[in-house]
Amino acid sequence: MSTARGESAAWQEAYHSGALKQRREATYARKLHRLGLTSPTTDTRTLDIACGSGEALTTLAETGFTRLHGLDLDAPTSAEVEPFHRTMGDGGRLPFADSTFNQVLCLHALHHFRSLEHIAELLGEARRVLKPAGALLLIDHFDSFYLRAIFRLLQFRCPLYPTAARHFGDQLRDEREIVAWWLDNWRALLPLIEQHGLKVEHFRRGLFFFYLRCTPIS
Ligand SMILES: C[S@@+](CC[C@H](N)C(=O)[O-])C[C@H]1O[C@@H](n2cnc3c(N)ncnc32)[C@H](O)[C@@H]1O
Repeated sequence: MSTARGESAAWQEAYHSGALKQRREATYARKLHRLGLTSPTTDTRTLDIACGSGEALTTLAETGFTRLHGLDLDAPTSAEVEPFHRTMGDGGRLPFADSTFNQVLCLHALHHFRSLEHIAELLGEARRVLKPAGALLLIDHFDSFYLRAIFRLLQFRCPLYPTAARHFGDQLRDEREIVAWWLDNWRALLPLIEQHGLKVEHFRRGLFFFYLRCTPIS
């Protein structure tokens, strides 16, 4: 069984900076739309694995979704009341019953699981807690010359960069080994999804991220 590891203090400081939080808040509506998360029904139950500071769930709450759950290894840094239930834990060992959720998300976080073995555990657990007609929705980086070049540039400490870019550069310097590992290995995700009883319904690439929707094979 894989061992989960929290993020470093330097990574946390950059991730929770006001500039990056604002950026997440500004981009989530568009990203969730790309995943097809647009029309809540009263009984839709959603789990966001590795929810971080929860902007995706907050955006879904603003869209009208109500039964929202977030899970992350790390504790929240803000004492503000959140419009979702939060659980601290490892995405590879979910403390939820089988067939609980209509949709499970894992956004910008697969590479933080740090090994294909741990990602396999996450996929197995996501499949287990999904209802038969549910969907698993994933966003993460894919390898490209363009992305590697931009990430390399952002890692330079340049005072001329906008604040959000400087904080993102701090994050990248801290996680550069796991990002490099992920870019070399991300293609293993698609067969892994199939090995865990899920099939890819929709796969779309943006500039920096892929948007993937998969459903349980009955
Ligand atoms: C880049 S952040 C993404 C957060 C959020 N999904 C977002 O889009 O802003 C990665 C998150 O993964 C969490 N994480 C890493 N490993 C985890 C694990 N094994 N189980 C649960 N959360 C994990 C980290 O604590 C961090 O909050």
